[in-house]
Order: sequence, then C-alpha cells, then structure tokens
Amino acid sequence: MSFQKRFQAEGEVAVVTGGGRSIGLQTALALAEAGAHVVIIEPKEEMGKEGLDSLLAKGFKAELIVGDVTDSARMTEVADHLAARGTPATILVNNAGIGESGTPSEAVTDEQWLRMMNVNINGVFWCSRAFGSHMVKAKRGAIVNLGSMSGTIANRPQPQTPYNVSKAAVHHMTRSMAAEWAQYNVRVNAVAPTYIETPMVNANPANRDRIEGWLRDTPMGRMGQADEVAAAVLFLASEAASLITGAILPVDGGYTCW
Ligand SMILES: NC(=O)c1ccc[n+]([C@@H]2O[C@H](COP(=O)([O-])OP(=O)(O)OC[C@H]3O[C@@H](n4cnc5c(N)ncnc54)[C@H](O)[C@@H]3O)[C@@H](O)[C@H]2O)c1
Repeated sequence: MSFQKRFQAEGEVAVVTGGGRSIGLQTALALAEAGAHVVIIEPKEEMGKEGLDSLLAKGFKAELIVGDVTDSARMTEVADHLAARGTPATILVNNAGIGESGTPSEAVTDEQWLRMMNVNINGVFWCSRAFGSHMVKAKRGAIVNLGSMSGTIANRPQPQTPYNVSKAAVHHMTRSMAAEWAQYNVRVNAVAPTYIETPMVNANPANRDRIEGWLRDTPMGRMGQADEVAAAVLFLASEAASLITGAILPVDGGYTCW
C-alpha cells in the first residue's frame, strides 16, 4: 500500500461520538476528508445538525444518529443497526466527554462525581463494547479514545480530580482493550491533548492569569486547536498506524515533558 493511501480512510465507516462540535466535529471532518462515511452521535438532534450540515455542504458522506453514550442499550442498538444494514462501524472515535474544574475534592458532590464517571468512563466502555464487538467479529477495526494530559498529570492551579481520574481510566481502558483485541486485528489507541480552545475550556480573557500560567507550563507556549487533535486521531485510526496499539499519544505542545 502506498504511504499516501495509508493515511486515507476510503471505504471505512467511522462513528464519532459527540461529533457535533469542537474536537468531535473536526475529527468527523478529518475522517470524511480522508474518504470515510461518518456517523455522528449526539444526544440531541440540535447538537449535531449544524455540524452534519457543514459536512454535507462540502459533499462528504455523513449522517447523524441521536443517542447518548451513557445509554448502553441505545449504543448497542445503533451498532447493531449499522451492522444490519451492511455498514458496520470500522472506526470508532470515543470523543464524547464532559469537563468540570474548579471544585476542590472536599466539595465535590456525589452527583458531580457520578455524572463525570458515567459520561467519561461508562460511555467509552458502552460504545467500545457495542461497536467493538462487531469489529471483533469482522477481525478488523480501529478505536481512538479521547484521553487527556489530565489522565497523566494533575493540572494546576485549578482542582479537577474527577475529570483527571476519568481520563486516567480512559487511558488504562485503552491499553487493556488493546491487549485483548490485538488478536482480532482491532487496534485501540488514545490521544492525550493539552488545553484545546473549545467551549469545554474556559479560555475567556477574565481568566488571563490562569491561562498565562498554563502557557508558561507548556514548552510550545500555546494552547491547541481542535483540528490539531483531529489530525492525530485520523493518524491513529488509519492504516498509517497499523503497528500501533495501546498507545496514549500526547498532543500537548510538550506540556508533559516538564
Ligand atoms: N478541550 C480540551 O481542552 C480537551 C483537552 C483534552 C481532552 N479533551 C477531550 O476531548 C473530548 C472533546 O472535548 P471538546 O473540548 O471538544 O468538548 P465540547 O464540550 O466542545 O464537545 C463535546 C461534545 O460531546 C457531546 N456530548 C456530551 N455528552 C454526550 C453524551 N452523553 N453522549 C453523546 N455526546 C455527548 C456534546 O454534545 C458536544 O457536542 C472530550 O472527551 C474531552 O474530555 C478536551
């Protein structure tokens, strides 16, 4: 296979959870540009419609399926539906996630903790099991999870223990499933981004002091953009990464070097 072809996703069916905006939408765009049929999953139609329309307007193959990643039965139903119509997912990007920071651990409520774990850990497992079981059967597939540098380091100055714990779990789920499913030719990897300028990160100018601290902690001295994460996801999902599984790829401007 030519090197250029290895970076393509022609003929693949790529499911992107939370693909309606930000990193998810840029990832959907990257995969669509590479030739994949993209399936965006969002809990509400209005969260995915605009993103879907932007892909369709460019002439890409894409669709929106409404579903919440915390609804295990729904994720199984969607995965089985794609398989039954002859287009089982061959790529899954577990992007849907929520962020929360600023609450010290002694003040975190049960509800805050459980919600974080439900979306960021359970959601990744339900989707990996639902879509991954078809990949296991077909003996072919690639899963890319959205981890975070917060799964490796503790951020400063803001406390965010629940989020950090949830992403550490995503990293270890990545390695564990990679080890299990390598025998079925299903690769499982993750990206671990730094602060990316999306609505999840409170990058408003009122937070200037905090942001300047983040930038001082980053060798490249800047935050990231959603498309820079999407490019790394495309690489891991593509044949260009055919020997890579169980990897947690930092996409962090060097943050975790220091
Ligand atoms: N922004 C960052 O700095 C950053 C850094 C590292 C990792 N990440 C991770 O990248 C991923 C995307 O982050 P983002 O900044 O693009 O977030 P975002 O909030 O801008 O977008 C998240 C998307 O996920 C969808 N979503 C949320 N809950 C869902 C659910 N239960 N089911 C289905 N979809 C759901 C939302 O509707 C939204 O479209 C997350 O997993 C996040 O933890 C983000």
